[in-house]
Amino acid sequence: MRRKIVAGNWKMNIEHAEGKELINDILSGLSNVEESKQVIICPPFIHLQQAAELVHGTSHVSIGAQNCYTEASGAYTGEVSAAMIKSTGAGSVILGHSERREYFNESNEMLAQKVNIALENGLQVIFCCGEAKEIREAGTQNSFVEGQIKDSLFHLSAEQMANVVVAYEPIWAIGTGLTASSDQAQDMHAHIRSVLAAKYGQELANNTSILYGGSCKPTNAAELFACPDVDGGLIGGASLKAADFQGIIAAM
Ligand code: PGA
Repeated sequence: MRRKIVAGNWKMNIEHAEGKELINDILSGLSNVEESKQVIICPPFIHLQQAAELVHGTSHVSIGAQNCYTEASGAYTGEVSAAMIKSTGAGSVILGHSERREYFNESNEMLAQKVNIALENGLQVIFCCGEAKEIREAGTQNSFVEGQIKDSLFHLSAEQMANVVVAYEPIWAIGTGLTASSDQAQDMHAHIRSVLAAKYGQELANNTSILYGGSCKPTNAAELFACPDVDGGLIGGASLKAADFQGIIAAM
């Protein structure tokens, strides 16, 4: 069964004590999250254990990291492994965010390795894809996103793919206030689903959650989430304010 998901990506924001406050504020305003839905909060690494403890016992609310390293352990100063993330109580990891691709040179091939190690360690992967403005203007966004998905995910078995959520985040919409129209989002999400169906079959494609990300707010979330192939959102800026994040969760 395909789940509706709202995931919050705090990026490099919020210090330790404020993190506790923000999670408590989010939880206090949250009514029961139904079985068919999932709320995932993805703070920086320093929050993971505390955050996992805070949401423990709240059904269908869990914690995710924003990145992991390609290797299992060893002399990689400053990096954090998938097993370490799992050991904090977190259940998910965002991989392939456009900021990591751009500022940290993460290639599709490197992301394939990260996806592997995350899945091997029992983490759900939120795999981000999306095109830059120039690609959208050239009209080649569908083949571009298809390439990202093929290069980083298509080596997976169907069983592994069942633990992958796709997040479509057009780069021109991230943090810019420009949101994809619901038609643009629906077109791309339907395309992504057809790409998954061609490789893994229609049933797996139908069961895969495909999230939209990019300037999603309480004011536009309901319209975006009403699209048949948009199964929720990956939320940046609006996940840093409890009321906004709750508004988006309510829209799901
Ligand atoms: P935004 O970020 O909601 O601030 O546009 C989304 C994201 O980068 O995940």
